[in-house]
Amino acid sequence: MPFILGIETSCDETAAAVVARDGEVLSSVVASQLDVHGRYGGVVPELASREHLRAIVPVVRQAMQDAHASWADLGAVAATAGPGLVGSLLVGLTFAKGICAVRRLPLIGVNHLEGHIHAVVLDARRSGEEIELPALALVASGGHTHLFLWTGGEKYQLLGRTRDDAAGEAYDKVAKLLGFGYPGGPVLDMLAPHGDPEAVDLPMARMKGNPLDFSFSGLKTAVLRWVQSREMETEIAARRELLRRNPRPTLEQWLEVTPQTTLNLVAAFQQVVVEELLKRVERAAEETGARSVIISGGVACNAGLRRAAHSGRLPCPAYFPTPHLSTDNAAMIAAAAWPKFERGEFDDFSLKAQANLALA
Ligand code: KG4
Ligand code: ZN
Repeated sequence: MPFILGIETSCDETAAAVVARDGEVLSSVVASQLDVHGRYGGVVPELASREHLRAIVPVVRQAMQDAHASWADLGAVAATAGPGLVGSLLVGLTFAKGICAVRRLPLIGVNHLEGHIHAVVLDARRSGEEIELPALALVASGGHTHLFLWTGGEKYQLLGRTRDDAAGEAYDKVAKLLGFGYPGGPVLDMLAPHGDPEAVDLPMARMKGNPLDFSFSGLKTAVLRWVQSREMETEIAARRELLRRNPRPTLEQWLEVTPQTTLNLVAAFQQVVVEELLKRVERAAEETGARSVIISGGVACNAGLRRAAHSGRLPCPAYFPTPHLSTDNAAMIAAAAWPKFERGEFDDFSLKAQANLALA
């Protein structure tokens, strides 16, 4: 039985994975560029493309070795075609085309958001669970906050999306502002339980038009105003200094340089983001009669969001991927490619990398 080699390079992770038809992940290699972009407080597109070029050959080789697979074992090569940074996408997609040309393998282009959704399907399959359709799919990451209704196959209906910042981007910007470095989500999530969310009043978005759209820029601005109205330079400088000495501080080290008022702000910020996300999921679940909720993308790692989604407030079960399948990886790309492989849906070499490729 053949395997699919998946390749993902849409943002700042170079990833390759080999996945079998039954969903078994034979290998999954992710080379992160965090150390390259961390000091800039966000992803620098030119640096990302260059790092992908450096990493793509060793990462694919490692994925094939870990899977004990040879080229002859592959049925197809799948690569992310968009959305993402075009220079980054081009590296993975072009490399995939190269393998396909030399090894005479079919090419399958995958939408990155469909990959995130399939990360959850993959996990559920492996644990013998059935995700009942129609399902709501919330993809919340550094680049996207999209809510879809998925009725099966490739039928996705876009119910709402962010009008400004993505949820993960809001985490990253707030963390940068407060001196917590990049990416912001994991640190703020770790610190949030140490603050009192009720002690700081942050606004929920007021939306006109589609009530299932998201907005996070007002929240970000409210945090900025809060910071500007206080003397925070010394504590922010202390955190930046901590990061300079140690790129991955522990919880205890962060707590030493973060006063209670700032912890309260972080807790309030997290509470609002979780509420903004779940409020819409809840409303959409009621309006559509969805039978399951899928929550994926980097923000799906968020402990507060997971807890709230499992607290019984949603009218149907919520599924999250395991944390290493929540952030960008290639197993999800290969998993999303399998149904296309079964249907014989292949792409030719004219397939382009598309920064704004839409799923619905
Ligand atoms: O899916 P992903 O790896 O890449 C994109 O496609 O963007 O998501 C990365 C994003 C970053 O913005 C990061 O801050 C956020 O996911 N993130 C989190 C958490 N872990 C990662 N946000 C909130 N809480 C977390 N625990
Ligand atoms: Zn992603």
